[in-house]
Amino acid sequence: MKYHLRCRHCGCEIADFGAWLAQGQQCRCGKNYAEVEYDEPLRLPSAPPATPSYQDYYFGLLPLQSRDNIVSCGEGLIPIERWSNLEAYAASKGVECEVYVYRNDLNAGSGSFKDISAALAASVLKEHGVKEYCLASTGNAGVAFATYTAKAGIAYTAFAPNCIDPDTVAAIRRTGQRIVISQGGYGAAKEEAANYHKDNKVLISIGNTDPLRIESKRLAAMECLRQMGKLPTVYMQAVAGGTSPLAFEKGFRDLQQMASRGDSGMDPAALRLPRMILVQQDECDPMVRAWEKATAAGFPEGWERQYEALHDIKTRIGILTAANPGNYPLVAPLVRRSGGTFVRVAEAALPRYGKEMLRSRGLLLGPASMVCYAGFFEAVDNGLIHNGDSVLLNTGEGCDRAAWFKALVDEEK
Ligand SMILES: Cc1ncc(COP(=O)(O)O)c(C=O)c1O
Ligand SMILES: [Zn+2]
Repeated sequence: MKYHLRCRHCGCEIADFGAWLAQGQQCRCGKNYAEVEYDEPLRLPSAPPATPSYQDYYFGLLPLQSRDNIVSCGEGLIPIERWSNLEAYAASKGVECEVYVYRNDLNAGSGSFKDISAALAASVLKEHGVKEYCLASTGNAGVAFATYTAKAGIAYTAFAPNCIDPDTVAAIRRTGQRIVISQGGYGAAKEEAANYHKDNKVLISIGNTDPLRIESKRLAAMECLRQMGKLPTVYMQAVAGGTSPLAFEKGFRDLQQMASRGDSGMDPAALRLPRMILVQQDECDPMVRAWEKATAAGFPEGWERQYEALHDIKTRIGILTAANPGNYPLVAPLVRRSGGTFVRVAEAALPRYGKEMLRSRGLLLGPASMVCYAGFFEAVDNGLIHNGDSVLLNTGEGCDRAAWFKALVDEEK
């Protein structure tokens, strides 16, 4: 065997994804947070990529047995660019730093960082003979999984809230897969998906700690090494559930293991977990609120379990509407351990940042990416970026499915 899974709750070993899927994507202890472990020492590829598929390039680092099962549209090996306009802004405030942008909008599947997860998920599902899959999603994940399951010949249903963007609905329909739009919000869509899964015995995505999502997204850390020659000292992202920061930390641990064996080309002493600066927009900021309370109280015992779900959120950014931050108890301790923090940006200011990006880069990213972008300015203004930092902005989407946001940016002077 190439790998196995280990339950992060009770430590029990699960043979492979075949066993994991057969036992309902959970450990016998009832928890669904398991991590992939490899049976042989991991090694980074030494030659440059020969194909645009990250699964092909990093095959030795993935829980797939056969390359024949790879489902790819050309995702994951997207550019990490240095953005001088952001470096110039920091310099204008007295901070000399490098700023890199991980261009997930350039993923060829559906133009978001969900493509990376959906590609590996489709491959592993194909490898284990899965014929049908379903998922509740507010946007990018719905489209990405539709795209890759269609390519793998797996029937798929997306359950979406009533507020879903028409562009997203059209994108899912174009794949030929099914979409069910709920009368209610995301909570109602999740319930409908859960019922469909139970009644029809159809596999369902288990969300933020799904080992398939973590395992694929962790390769962002390896891509930093390949493209930047180092890890960043600061990792920034707009956060909803928090899968990507958890995944980056798993990638970091894998790199540490390789470095300690002398295999990553990195000095283990030089490998540091970047400070995680996670951003939410003020119209849906439950993690920022919980973090502010914990900070004010001096992080008392059990602080990470103190969070509240928000009601009546008014945000227009469909993908960043996780009003009940169920993953906070996992994500917040990671942020603290990394020396990072949570940052809030004003949603009303995002079109202004969009205009600025158009002017300085000739490019407009989607609203969820703009939350991260605006977060960089906020972080600089608040002294969170230091001289000598190298900052990675993990921007997750382009603007193709957000006509409403483009219109707001157009109106901006
Ligand atoms: C573009 C974009 N940015 C940020 C997020 C939040 O990601 P995470 O689940 O890692 O918090 C998502 C997904 O929900 C997304 O699609
Ligand atoms: Zn267990």
